[in-house]
Amino acid sequence: MIKKDDLELKMQQFDLAMSPPVQEPERQYFYIAKAKKMVSELAKTLGRKPTFCVVTFGCQMNARDSEKLSGILEEIGYEDNGTDENSDFVIFNTCTVRDNANQRVYGRLGVLKNYKKKNPNMRIGICGCMMQEQSVIEKMKKSYRFVDLIFGTHNIFKFAELVVRMLENDEMLIDIWKDTDQIVEDLPIVRKYPFKSGINIMFGCNNFCSYCIVPYVRGRERSRNPEDIIREIEMLVADGVIEIMLLGQNVNSYGKNLDEPISFAQLLQRIEQIEGLERIRFMTSHPKDLSDELIAVMRDSKKICRHLHLPLQSGSTRILEKMNRRYTKEQYIELALKIRREIPDISLTTDIIVGFPGETDEDVDDTIDVIKKVGYDNAFTFIYSKRTGTPAAAMENQVPEDMVKRNFNRVLETVQHTSKNRSVSYLDQDVTVLIEEMNDQDDTLVTGRMSNNTIVHLKGNASMIGTLQNVHLDECHGFYYNGHVIES
Ligand code: SAH
Ligand code: SF4
Ligand code: F3S
Repeated sequence: MIKKDDLELKMQQFDLAMSPPVQEPERQYFYIAKAKKMVSELAKTLGRKPTFCVVTFGCQMNARDSEKLSGILEEIGYEDNGTDENSDFVIFNTCTVRDNANQRVYGRLGVLKNYKKKNPNMRIGICGCMMQEQSVIEKMKKSYRFVDLIFGTHNIFKFAELVVRMLENDEMLIDIWKDTDQIVEDLPIVRKYPFKSGINIMFGCNNFCSYCIVPYVRGRERSRNPEDIIREIEMLVADGVIEIMLLGQNVNSYGKNLDEPISFAQLLQRIEQIEGLERIRFMTSHPKDLSDELIAVMRDSKKICRHLHLPLQSGSTRILEKMNRRYTKEQYIELALKIRREIPDISLTTDIIVGFPGETDEDVDDTIDVIKKVGYDNAFTFIYSKRTGTPAAAMENQVPEDMVKRNFNRVLETVQHTSKNRSVSYLDQDVTVLIEEMNDQDDTLVTGRMSNNTIVHLKGNASMIGTLQNVHLDECHGFYYNGHVIES
């Protein structure tokens, strides 16, 4: 990110009639200045500020990318109006991890086409993971000609430049990169919440789990330098942020490929020193890379939240091997129980896939066994989705739908049972809650999160948003609590 004043200074240096600088991010500062001029012309024609809407599909990584897109759009003079229906510039930031994510995008694009008919000046951009698939681009070119701008995950930092090219031209503009080794930062970002923020510590993934498309659409693993990460967090804290979420597909392998290697646990220790920062979260941890060093650092930390998302995917060693997860059922259980022993108040959550090719009822029994032994606080259960280009898509024995449904329900029931048992265990305790928003159903209530990520509703008002409160938990309603503020 870059501070507004610093960006203003940089932009004043440019003569927009000259050719743009080659270096990044200076090149983008040039294009931001240029776009700003074009958008102010547009505003004159419209007689008002043009509006935008960024619609995000998928994970936290995409959510952070959307904040980068919004940052540029606000800087160049668009105004966020929160709905795609009558925006002048709509952007879909897409996800392709499971087929239903893609179907939702196609569905929404269909609706957007009608909006564009009513407002012919509307510009439509589409980006994100789906756009890194050749078959999707073909489909866009053929059936979605009303889309103005298409770009991918690797060149998102060039957004300002792409917007200028789009505004100069009426043709469909497509710019997709296969991969990149660049990390371009120091661009404007707007945050959804003033008091908490995600921050990328690494990009891409090298794990190639056999079912997963992410390594193909997000490219190879690249870690940011620890100094850049610390500097960004310090800037965020100076700007009012008290909770950060460190983002990466596999944070436990952070730093291994840097010129001066550093472990994720060491990075956490350095972040812990940042004064004014109160809470640290991270996502996601691959079990195969979770070190004892990390467990010790979490245990001894005052700021790292009591929550660990540790995707299991399957409890069957046979299936785990086919998934290329590189741990066994026993190793996973041992790891999870070690974490529970060392950090008893931690909340453990997970991801599970049901219906991977060749999965039998006995394999699912193994998954259920792990759920019971670990006792997850929560688990996201997904039906296996075949992703073209991944090794699993070519495997034989794709599981019949009725069997998947039956096993999915068995897993879900077990998860609901264990998570209910876990969540009730905090009843009548005093905990710290970060108040995040007004309750959307009752305006005498505010809603916040405990360190372990559990949601709490309590009496309060807007002035409490963004503050940490001591709260007594009065009632447990399954996944959330009702509580009240107590004196500290
Ligand atoms: N990097 C993260 C996961 C990112 S994808 C990790 O390894 O934990 C989020 C979740 O989507 C995965 O944990 C997995 O459970 C699920 N997922 C990924 N590919 C899938 C597929 N082809 N079908 C169903 N679920 C999938
Ligand atoms: Fe996908 Fe596996 Fe990488 Fe996670 S670790 S993003 S599941 S390949
Ligand atoms: Fe989806 Fe891309 Fe995230 S495929 S889950 S948005 S990395």
